Amino acid sequence: MIRIAVVGSSSMDLVVTSAKRPMAGETVLGESFITVPGGKGANQAVAAARLGAEVTMVGCVGDDVYGEIILENLKKNHVHTKYVEPVTGSASGTAHITLSEGDNSIIVVKGANDFITPEYVEKAKKVIEESDIVLVQQEIPEETVEYLAELCSTLQKRLLLNPAPARKLSEAVIQQASFLTPNEHEFEILFDGRDRTEVLTEYPNKLFITEGKNGVRYFDGHEEKVVPSFEVEAVDTTGAGDTFNAAFAVAVAEGKSFDESLLFANRAASISVTKLGAQGGMPQRLEVERGFEA
Ligand code: RIB
Ligand code: NA
Repeated sequence: MIRIAVVGSSSMDLVVTSAKRPMAGETVLGESFITVPGGKGANQAVAAARLGAEVTMVGCVGDDVYGEIILENLKKNHVHTKYVEPVTGSASGTAHITLSEGDNSIIVVKGANDFITPEYVEKAKKVIEESDIVLVQQEIPEETVEYLAELCSTLQKRLLLNPAPARKLSEAVIQQASFLTPNEHEFEILFDGRDRTEVLTEYPNKLFITEGKNGVRYFDGHEEKVVPSFEVEAVDTTGAGDTFNAAFAVAVAEGKSFDESLLFANRAASISVTKLGAQGGMPQRLEVERGFEA
C-alpha cells in the first residue's frame, strides 16, 4: 500500500442549486440546498483513500459542529486524522457553492484552515517523512506551502502542488515541487499569460495542465502530449480536480508511467462528476479499473 500525506484544507460545502444565478442586487428562488464535506485537501485525501492509498491528512477544523462532521467523514473514509486538530474559537472552513446554468461558482472562507501554519506542519514532519508522495493545494496560508515545498525538497519527497485557487508562486516553490497541476485559468496566472508550449517545454514531466473536457497537456521531454478525458453526463463538476490530483498521485506513487497515471486520473475524475457533491461521485479503485476493461 502506498502512503500519502495531504497537507490542506477541509471545509463544509454549502451547496445551492438554482436555475438562475443571481446578479448583483438580485434575489432568485433556488431549488435545493445541501451541506456536504469538502475542501480541496480533504477531498484529495478521501479520493486517494478510496483508490486504495493509506492517507494521512494534516489540517485543522473549527470547534463547531461542521468540524465534528468533517472529522467523522474523514474517519469514515479511512483517512488518518491524528494530525487534524480542532482550533478553539475558530469556525470551520466553508465553501459557498452555487450550481447554476451548468457551472459552479464558489466563495471559500478559510476559517480554521488559516491555522495550518509552517509550525503546525513541522509537528507532522514524521508523516511527511514516511509518505511516498505529498499533496498540497492553496486553500491554506502561502507561507505553509512554501515551507512544505522546502521541507519536501530537503527530505527528497515528491510533492504534488495543485495550485488551486490560483495565486502566483515563487520560483523556488516551482523548482521544489515535483508536479504542478494548474487548470488553464490557474496556468495563466501562474505564468503571466506566457505561451503554453514555451512554458511546458521548460518543465518536462512536471507541469500538467488540466483542460477539462480536452484532457491533460504536458511535455514529456521529447514532445507535447495530450491525454484525453472521458465523456460523461456531468451532474456536478465540483471536486473533479481533486479527484484527478489524488488519482494521479496514487498512480505515480505506484510506479505507473505518466501516460498511464493521467489516464487513470482522468477516468477517476470523470466518474466523480456523475454525482452531486465534491466527494459524492469519487470512485473506489475497482470502479476506475472496471472502466478500463470495458
Ligand atoms: O475543489 C473543490 C472544493 O473547492 C470544494 O469542495 C470546496 O470546498 C472548494 O473549496
Ligand atoms: Na461529484
